[in-house]
Amino acid sequence: MAVQRTFSIIKPDATKRNLTGAITAKFEEAGLRVVASKRIRMTMEQAQTFYAVHKDRPFFGELCEFMISEPIVVQVLEGEDAIAKNREVMGATNPADAAEGTIRKEFALSIGENSVHGSDGPDTAAEEIAYFFSGLEIVG
Ligand code: CMP
Repeated sequence: MAVQRTFSIIKPDATKRNLTGAITAKFEEAGLRVVASKRIRMTMEQAQTFYAVHKDRPFFGELCEFMISEPIVVQVLEGEDAIAKNREVMGATNPADAAEGTIRKEFALSIGENSVHGSDGPDTAAEEIAYFFSGLEIVG
């Protein structure tokens, strides 16, 4: 498998509890390299656009309100098989289903307040990276 890049968000429940470093350490321990990182506060419009694929789901409003409730940290992670590796390190969306040692098992509060987002495939990774970062901000 070739070196890939994936997109990650450290979500409001995690930044609020000062877990940015602990979560970043989990990525690094798994062999993922942070090649871009910034702390931002999303606008409602950005949240709705970013999560547009979920716009018809019953939790869409709650999800967008949550994502703008506190700062987030957006990152680009690079490594061998980075998309799958990141999903493995994050664990299942619902922390109740997440494996031992995963970020969501250790830190997530609920399916909504689940501490991290990660791209689900190469196309979404490319789209999500481009939504938040210019090429000049990514230093591999
Ligand atoms: P994420 O990987 O950011 O992608 C979509 C998000 O929707 C997901 O993580 C969850 O945080 C959130 N989500 C999924 N299902 C629910 C739900 N039933 N209630 C609230 N939020 C949800």
